[in-house]
Amino acid sequence: MATIIDGKAISAKVRNEIKEEVEKMAVKPGLAVIIVGEDPASQVYVRNKAKGCEEVGFYSEVHRLPEQTTEEELLALIEKLNESDKIDGILCQLPLPKHLDEKAVINAIRADKDVDAFHPVNTGKIMIGDYDFLPCTPAGVMRLISETGIDVSGKKCVVIGRSNIVGKPMAMLLLQKNGTVTICHSRTSDLKKECLQADILVVAIGKAKFITADYVKPGAVVIDVGMDRDENGKLCGDVDFAGVSEVAGAITPVPGGVGPMTIAMLLTNTLKAARLKGKK
Ligand code: GUN
Repeated sequence: MATIIDGKAISAKVRNEIKEEVEKMAVKPGLAVIIVGEDPASQVYVRNKAKGCEEVGFYSEVHRLPEQTTEEELLALIEKLNESDKIDGILCQLPLPKHLDEKAVINAIRADKDVDAFHPVNTGKIMIGDYDFLPCTPAGVMRLISETGIDVSGKKCVVIGRSNIVGKPMAMLLLQKNGTVTICHSRTSDLKKECLQADILVVAIGKAKFITADYVKPGAVVIDVGMDRDENGKLCGDVDFAGVSEVAGAITPVPGGVGPMTIAMLLTNTLKAARLKGKK
């Protein structure tokens, strides 16, 4: 039976460390979260981000904009937040309504306030290993791996998924820790064969319980980035937890694995942004 990697406990530890640092600061870090429209999942994420800020003692603002907001209006708000001394980090919740250009919005957020690390300057910095911010999900996965005492160096790492937000930066971070990294995706010809090579398997496919025990090498570390619903509407991951936990060496559950880490990493980035601006 695999060791269960407890994301809730590790996230609480990180948030506690941040809270202790913030208590000593004269000027609190500030995060602005923008949400456009009524997407129910996004509403929950944004509420949790604001709650996370409050818990660690940050200043926070949530800007709720109507569905029909124009790009001009959204960019004007970002510009105002870019200039605000109170605000160290800006996050615009994705996805945006169809009429808004995500790329233009990501590019408009000043790179030194881009606590999602989605701006091309920040993604480029990750590529060369000289970064201030890491995207929250891959950063959370790396923290789970390090807190569990797993050494990536020399390990065969397989990442399933090639998105700009998860798969690609995930692969770069594992590479920086000297893993030997393979990125798999929808056109990979023999996914099972690739997965069976993995000492560390990071799964971000978006399909409920897709990775079953026959994809996993005995003793492997399995990290499940998925957030899906099973046949009964219950929250689950991309990995069949019941079966895979019989063969893996360590595994993250869903819920309670990667999910809780993302907000902890957002808060970490916001604290760093405030420090870089000279807040003490
Ligand atoms: N939507 C889903 N995940 C994220 C995230 O990490 N950041 C932002 N801005 N939007 C998201």
